[in-house]
Amino acid sequence: NHPDLTVRLKMQGVCDLLQSNIDYYDWVGFYMAHDTEPTLHLWSQAGKPTDHDVIPFGKGICGQVAVSNKNFVVDDVHAQDNYIACSIHVKSEVVIPLFKNGKNIGQIDIDSNTAKAFSQEDEQFLEWINEQVAMIL
Ligand code: SME
Repeated sequence: NHPDLTVRLKMQGVCDLLQSNIDYYDWVGFYMAHDTEPTLHLWSQAGKPTDHDVIPFGKGICGQVAVSNKNFVVDDVHAQDNYIACSIHVKSEVVIPLFKNGKNIGQIDIDSNTAKAFSQEDEQFLEWINEQVAMIL
């Protein structure tokens, strides 16, 4: 399940670009599904390092999106029962599935230290980002 180094570097570039240019994007990462096991693996990230490199399907916001295939916008992370905290500063989160040939193969995950940070424009923008990334996968 190890991506090509060039692919990983490009995805790292996307994370860095988003995290450094959009002030309320405090943490940006791509979690990608394992080929054979129901787990998500952190391929690249920008922001404070996280301990959660591997997330089982169904666990946390990310794990739920792995099975729902739907965008998940969380206005207040503290109101979520099935949530994995990476930083005490995080207040809201958005996870957008990444599709390749119609299959949900991973996701982009953004954390914000601002409450209710993510709008429909963010969702549309991040869907577009994922479409661009899917083309190099
Ligand atoms: N909060 C996520 C876990 C990943 S960290 O935000 C980097 C979740 O609940 O799935």
